[in-house]
Formats: sequence, C-alpha cells, structure tokens
Amino acid sequence: MTTEVEREAAAELTADIAALPAWTLDEGQLGDLELLLSGAFAPLTGFMGSADVASVRDRGTLADGTPWPAPVTLDVPGHAAVASAARIVLNDPEHTPLAVLDITESAPCLTAEAGPLDPAGAPGRHTRPDGDGEPGTVRLSGPVTSLRPPEHGPFRNLRLSPVQARAEVGDGPVLAFATRRPLTWRQIGQLRHFAGQLRARILLLPLVSGPAEVVVRPEALVRTVQAAARSLPPGTLVVPVPLAPRGSVPARETATRALVAAAYGATHLLTDEPGAGRDGQAPESAAAAQQPVPVLSAGEWAYDRAAEVWRPLALIEPGTERTDLARGELEDLLDRGEEVPAWFAPAAVAEELRRARPPRGERGVVVFFTGLSGSGKSTIARGLRDALAERGDRTVSLLDGDLVRQLLSAGLSFSRADRDMNIARIGYAATEVARHGGVAICAPIAPFADARARARRMVSEVGDFLLIHVATPVEVCEARDRKGLYAKARAGLIDHFTGISDPYELPTDAELTIDTSAVSRQQAVDMVLSLLTKGGWLTDDTAG
Ligand code: ADX
Repeated sequence: MTTEVEREAAAELTADIAALPAWTLDEGQLGDLELLLSGAFAPLTGFMGSADVASVRDRGTLADGTPWPAPVTLDVPGHAAVASAARIVLNDPEHTPLAVLDITESAPCLTAEAGPLDPAGAPGRHTRPDGDGEPGTVRLSGPVTSLRPPEHGPFRNLRLSPVQARAEVGDGPVLAFATRRPLTWRQIGQLRHFAGQLRARILLLPLVSGPAEVVVRPEALVRTVQAAARSLPPGTLVVPVPLAPRGSVPARETATRALVAAAYGATHLLTDEPGAGRDGQAPESAAAAQQPVPVLSAGEWAYDRAAEVWRPLALIEPGTERTDLARGELEDLLDRGEEVPAWFAPAAVAEELRRARPPRGERGVVVFFTGLSGSGKSTIARGLRDALAERGDRTVSLLDGDLVRQLLSAGLSFSRADRDMNIARIGYAATEVARHGGVAICAPIAPFADARARARRMVSEVGDFLLIHVATPVEVCEARDRKGLYAKARAGLIDHFTGISDPYELPTDAELTIDTSAVSRQQAVDMVLSLLTKGGWLTDDTAG
C-alpha cells in the first residue's frame, strides 16, 4: 500500500524523472528489476558490474565472496541515449517509470565468446542469458531505487513479495517447486512424498518471465499450477515469480531457483531435473554446498499401474511401471485434440492444458506468404481464403500486401525501416486474429528475414505460424509484369524495387515453397490446403 509520505516523495521525484533519459525494460529485464526491488535477489540491490559478473562466472560468488549462481545484468544497445547517462529511469513495457538506476559503471560489451543467443530468449533481450553481453551493447550497473510498485503482468494479486510469502508460509519446513512447465501427477506425487517426509508446507513458484513450456503464456502456466495445487495438501501456496531463464547451464538455473525460493521462505527446493541433486537427498558437491537451501532431486519416478499412483521406480514391481510421456508427446497429444490420460494429469490440469493449447483445428494460425512482386502470393492467398470460406469451419482474415498498404500501412514508403514497420503491423494484426482462434492469411513481399522472424515470434505466443515462400523466379515475375512495375523499375522510374534494385532475402525457414511457374493456381492452393490438413489446422473431411 502507498502511504501519503510515499506519494509526496513520488510527486517530487516525478519532476526530476521527466528530465532523465529512460530505458523501457524487456520482459527479462523487468523480471530482474522486480526481483531486485522486492528483495528476492538480496543482498543484491542493483544490476551487477563487471567485477561481480567475472567473479560469478569464475568462482560462483559475487566479488565480495557471497555465493551467487548467475549474472543479473542490464545491457542496452550502445546507441541508446541511456548508454552514456549517469542516472536513468527504468520503465515497464507500458512506459510507466518503475525505478531509477544510478549508474556506477557503464561498460561496452565487446566479447562474443559465448554461444549464440538462447533461441528461447525473450524477444528484444539484449543480454545473453549466460551473462555475456552482445557485441555493440553497453552493460549498465548500479543500485536501483523504486518509484512505484510494478503493475505489469497478470496474476498481480498472487505475486507476494518475499516478505509477504515468508509471513504466509511461516517458520516450519517449506518445500518449494519452481517451474516453467505445468505440473502433472508425477510432480504432484513427488511433492506429496517429499513434503510428507519433511512435514513441510508446499510452495509452488511458477516462473512467469519468458515462455512457459507446453502452454507458452505465463498466465496459462499459473492456471495449470493452480489446478495442480487442488491435488496437493491444503495450505499449498502458489506465488508467481518473474525469474527469467538463466541460460543453458542447468546447474545455474537450479541454483538461481534455489536462491529465489529461499528468499520466498523455502527451506528445501525439489527438482524433477535428473542430476540436479542426489535422489531424495541434498547434493554434496562443492557448488551444491553453496546452495542457500538444499536441492532435492526427485530421482526416477514412474506410474505404478497396479497401485495406480506415481512412485519412485525402485518401489514399483518390475513390469507394472508405466514411464512418463516422452518430451514433446504431451504437446503432440494436445495438438491433435486427444484426451490427456487420467494417469498423467488430474482432470483440472488437463482442462487448463486443453484451454491453453487447443487442438490445432481450433487454434489460431497465420499463413504468411512471402515472395517477389508478381510471384503469385496474392492469387494463392485469395484462392486459399475462398477455399476456407467455402468450407466454413474456420474464420479467415486476408491481409494482402497491396490492400494493407491502402489503409493499415498507408503512407509508408519502401525504405527498409518502412517495410519493417509494414510487416510489424501485419504481424500485429495477424497475431490478434490468431489469439482468437482465427486464420490470418498474409501476403506481403516481406523481403527481410528479421522482420519475418519477428512476425513469427509474435504470432507464436498465441498460435501457429506457417511461412510459405512463393519462390517464382524473378525472370518469370518480370515477364508477367501485370502492374508494369518491373518495366518502371528497369527504367529507373521506381527505385528500391525488390528483386531489381532492392534485396530479397531468401527464407531458410519456410514450411512450404511454391514456384508458380511450375504449378497451376489450383495446385498451389491445394498444396497449402494439404499442409493445413496434414498439420491438423484443418480437419480432413475426406477421411472417414
Ligand atoms: S513489403 O516490402 O513492405 O512487404 P508490400 O508487399 O507491402 O511490400 O508491397 C509490395 C507492393 O507494392 C508490390 O506488389 C508492388 O505492387 C508495390 N510496390 C511499389 N513500389 C515498390 C518497391 N519499390 N518495391 C516493391 N514493391 C513495390
């Protein structure tokens, strides 16, 4: 709650703040800021500088010797105004100022020694999750001071601070489980088992920064975890925590989860990852000895078909065990619209899984055509739209290149920046269609791979994205020249014409490639329909 004094102080600060350069945090940075401000990252009170980062990497401690598992850094592009400032404001994604950063060190990131950026990393994330900055970025470090409590993101009412969570769980043993994946009977069994042994309360920490496994959206993760909590002892507490993924080293991720869990009042952390600790015991390695709370590894578990429960494999009579679904099997099953087996997850969890990841036949999908002017994109797109409209089982929106430029992107030129903006707008509109379970057909040239990738990322948060490269050779497009634009481009009357005087970056990630110089219009449309049917986005009405 905000007191009168705090409100006045905030008002005074507002005037100063307006003069400071501002940085709008991406999702991962916002999560880190929240954890710094809430005390979940105590004793850290700000973003780390180079001495701490080097020490964490080399010795697993902060420069002062405090054990610390992974860097907490703020990297911004070198060209940003904040990169050379002494004091900056940190905004949430809606541009609400949340905190002030007093910069004690501003260091250019020159190294490219780490591997490629984590593909699962949040879009726009400038920090490599393993702590190495991207070349061209500047690492800003220093203490952060709160201006107002963060409001961004769903399930705010569940996001207790560490102090509130500690008060809620009390002084006894508390077994925490931090996860980016929905809980199923397996983890529910493990939690009951170990919490029973420890006589501990259970604290579930859905990690809501970055994409969730299976269900993608963090709010869907929270709902599945809440549904699972109904099968756990009363008093089980669910607290969403905005901890972004800590990179590709599993031990670092586990140790960071242990650190945050400890801040929220846990006395033990359970992990279902093999090798994170010894089965049912605290690990003994030097690194593990530095964990703020013991990490228990659940070890090998399976479903006992005779007893109809999940148990440690060692306790199950050989032959009656049923192993877990393989990686990706749950996703496939949901995509096909099949039942989640009762031995796998409680009905309430299955229901949330189905809502968050509906069968492909009901899920939003964006069919994104890319190709040169005159390649036949619009013709196929229209044919597809009509075919879907005739079937009548899916709603369709067509965002054709030329049509979009008449209204949605009216006034934009063909410069790279404007083309990128055009694709971003198309991607945005298509995302909204997909969010509500519709089919969006897009047909711009979209010559730049980056812009196409951004559209794919945006759509993939809410539905599926299929890139279709209409790869008709430029000579054929030019020979067709229905609009006479190639002739004008050759005559120098239009500059920056794609394929003639402006680049077209060939897609390497297309789900389908169609050359309209080799197939008819109907064949091309059929190829797309067949892709949609084989993948399950359309139900096969010829089958059965
Ligand atoms: S994109 O590059 O931003 O994806 P978009 O698909 O919207 O392009 O618009 C392409 C259409 O604009 C072409 O089909 C053509 O009719 C017209 N056009 C006009 N000038 C250009 C140009 N310089 N390059 C490409 N297309 C152009």
